Amino acid sequence: MPAVGIAVGDNKKEYPGNLTPFVTVTCIVAAMGGLIFGYDIGISGGVTSMPSFLRKFFPSVYRKQQQDATTNQYCQYDSQTLTMFTSSLYLAALSSSIVASTITRKFGRKLSMLFGGVLFCAGAIINGAAKAVWMLILGRILLGFGIGFANQSVPLYLSEMAPYKFRGALNIGFQLSITVGILVANVLNYFFAKIHGGWGWRLSLGGAMVPALIITVGSLVLPDTPNSMIERGQHDEARTKLKRVRGVDDVDEEFNDLIAASEASKKVEHPWRNLLQRKYRPHLTMAIMIPFFQQLTGINVIMFYAPVLFNTIGFGSNASLMSAVITGIVNVVATMVSIYGVDKWGRRFLFLEGGVQMLICQAVVAACIGAKFGTDGNPGELPKWYAIVVVLFICIYVAGFAWSWGPLGWLVPSEIFPLEIRSAAQSVNVSVNMLFTFIVAQIFLTMLCHLKFGLFLFFAFFVVLMSIFVYYFLPETKGIPIEEMGQVWKAHWFWSRFVAGEDYPNGGDYEMSKGGLGPKIV
Ligand code: BGC
Repeated sequence: MPAVGIAVGDNKKEYPGNLTPFVTVTCIVAAMGGLIFGYDIGISGGVTSMPSFLRKFFPSVYRKQQQDATTNQYCQYDSQTLTMFTSSLYLAALSSSIVASTITRKFGRKLSMLFGGVLFCAGAIINGAAKAVWMLILGRILLGFGIGFANQSVPLYLSEMAPYKFRGALNIGFQLSITVGILVANVLNYFFAKIHGGWGWRLSLGGAMVPALIITVGSLVLPDTPNSMIERGQHDEARTKLKRVRGVDDVDEEFNDLIAASEASKKVEHPWRNLLQRKYRPHLTMAIMIPFFQQLTGINVIMFYAPVLFNTIGFGSNASLMSAVITGIVNVVATMVSIYGVDKWGRRFLFLEGGVQMLICQAVVAACIGAKFGTDGNPGELPKWYAIVVVLFICIYVAGFAWSWGPLGWLVPSEIFPLEIRSAAQSVNVSVNMLFTFIVAQIFLTMLCHLKFGLFLFFAFFVVLMSIFVYYFLPETKGIPIEEMGQVWKAHWFWSRFVAGEDYPNGGDYEMSKGGLGPKIV
């Protein structure tokens, strides 16, 4: 991916350009890709807690649920087909994002977005009209293909369109639109579940058509990025477009840098093999570990299954959906905190603070559920204060995620890769994310059944691991120009042994902070 604003040494490059209405509207429309991803994350949990939906497609789960409340509550949702319904989407997204990378590179970002929108739409129609389980799963696979295309192309599109000074904010803007999508889905589930006749789930699932149509039409009217045009040899059109996007005539410097970046990345014949070189060991490690840890926070247990979870711990179906709406609001608001603070307080601070916050909450929730349900899953009477404490701590946990691992899980990988491996490393990041989203979704209900309240301790264990990992191995990347990022590895107590001085000839003034845990800019 060509770089957007490169600053070298003390001579910071400042490309002229404004946050024009043109670029603002363009980015808002493009960010709808995140909305669709979020809608999907939010919709499945609510739908799978609607009795009419369960009765129609998953009768054995429905029967278990209807049985006497004294049966084991932990296992009432344990069904492989129900799980497959949720998680099939992520496997489809994983495979299509790999295909999408070629289409995006050869034919432009817009075509991938168009594919994304059309596939989404098809999936939403099949799901809304579903008469049997196979239609549900087919629909979700199509939605997944759509997500793969959209998630591969939209973030790239946003980064290339955005003036470099606003790239960070716009990057988390994508995460913000994911959280808005989740919230909208939760609110709709809440209302659609009340529809008489029990067909509200059709509206919830078919409703994905609305954001899908927006991105489909959007992709037809959006301009292609100048970077992508240059990559495909349309130099004159690209220069005209760049002037329009930046709102200034003087775009020569940026234009020439885009050409140079494109030439440089064309010289790299084997980006995948490149990634295996010793000097890229820190990057490859981060491309795998960051998305892995992001999913092992257990966030999607809440995002996919919040209503199911609340139902399990004793809330009525209606109260469960309402609680999911509350966690959805917390998710959106806390993401805004991250947009505000990420460049002020730094990435490491947010990662570590969020980790401690999530850990405390997981311990409290495990204790509450364990105390009430014990190991036999039999709750007896549930007092109101107990329900309030559980929801409160789940909300604090969601907030912790939403200003740390949520946005940073996408931001940090995207800012640490050098140009020559950026695109390949980013694909690794997306694929690992989807793979572990799939795995967590696939095993959650079974784990709830077998690990019981210990499930929360399982994820808490990983939160401890990831916080230690960040503390020792992730250098601070705040305020460091992308193309100078190599210096942070060179100055790092551990990664410096992989990165030789000549790998990053541009000197940088770094000093090891106490204990050598991260670079300090002086
Ligand atoms: C994660 C998703 C998660 C969402 C929650 C994203 O960053 O990749 O898996 O559901 O945040 O807001």
